[in-house]
Amino acid sequence: MSKKFVVAVCGATGAVGQEMLKVLEQRDFPCSKIIPLASSRSAGKKVECQGHELVVQELTKDSFNGVDIALFSAGGAISKEYAPIAAQAGCVVVDNSAAWRMDPECPLVVPEVNPQDLDWHKGIIANPNCSTIQMMVALKPIHDEAKIKRVVVSTYQAVSGTGQKAIEELENQVRRLMSGQPVVADVYPHQIAFNCLPHIDVFMDNGYTKEEMKMVNETVKIMGDPNIKVTATCVRVPVFYGHSESVNIETELKLTADDVRALLAKAPGVTVEDYPEKLIYPMAINASGEDDTFVGRIREDETIDNGINMWIVSDNIRKGAALNTVQIAETLIERDLVRVP
Ligand code: A2P
Repeated sequence: MSKKFVVAVCGATGAVGQEMLKVLEQRDFPCSKIIPLASSRSAGKKVECQGHELVVQELTKDSFNGVDIALFSAGGAISKEYAPIAAQAGCVVVDNSAAWRMDPECPLVVPEVNPQDLDWHKGIIANPNCSTIQMMVALKPIHDEAKIKRVVVSTYQAVSGTGQKAIEELENQVRRLMSGQPVVADVYPHQIAFNCLPHIDVFMDNGYTKEEMKMVNETVKIMGDPNIKVTATCVRVPVFYGHSESVNIETELKLTADDVRALLAKAPGVTVEDYPEKLIYPMAINASGEDDTFVGRIREDETIDNGINMWIVSDNIRKGAALNTVQIAETLIERDLVRVP
């Protein structure tokens, strides 16, 4: 019988944590036990996974004794504090926050793109930013074929990326506006309903937001190529689930739109949806709940020699977070890496 693992889900009551439990169940992840962890506010609450009703436990320093794999999605501060404690206890951490992504000791992994980076893990593996993951899945096969020199990306990001409270804020604002009541903005600095906010995460000294700089820096680390130049504009839009991206790339070698379609048609984790004459192209409402990253509107950029435009859409909570995290854990098992060296 193949080995089963004790798995802790840290942040099990949150938007991503709930999806992690769902993905563990859907993929029949080999768990001998699942331990849902959250704050003291949620201790005693019940969650379900793999046919069992599980009682949420308060996260403490002792939570990881006897745990093989911990999936973290409880925010950066919790990851910063508890991931090293978990690794110290011999538990391999796959962390969905930004806390460890740029740490040179921590691999930053999209399993379809750079699974080999798991081989040098030291106990903590970082799950990339949601917008970066879907872009990597689509760009890796193109980079391998024609070497991408520059990426210009604009994102249209769903509120679920901010967490459960932001989902509720959009719902409440829509309801209030439709019944003529004034809106309350709490999670976001401005009304998000029927609006677009060119502001995700905090502003940095260079005028970009932290989210935009994540896309720049994480792309270089995941692709393992310091020469790829990325510039990003990240926008929060009133969509519940599914991030969309307009991506323009410049490659060293010439690729036609048909070449790109052919490359992506055989790429793992990608579905090409590109029949504009039939009004078929990727949309957030269709990508929601799906595992694949959808690519369409593939066309040559007529303003430069080797340029391609495309539209990339994926479920930010699944491939952008919970699914990618579980796929990392599955790849660790496949490569016999569920141990802290
Ligand atoms: P809780 O529900 O008990 O607050 P989201 O990203 O959807 O906002 O979810 C955040 C997740 O992180 C939730 O499961 C939340 O648990 C958890 N969390 C927040 N603060 C803590 C904390 N101090 N200790 C453990 N878990 C926490």
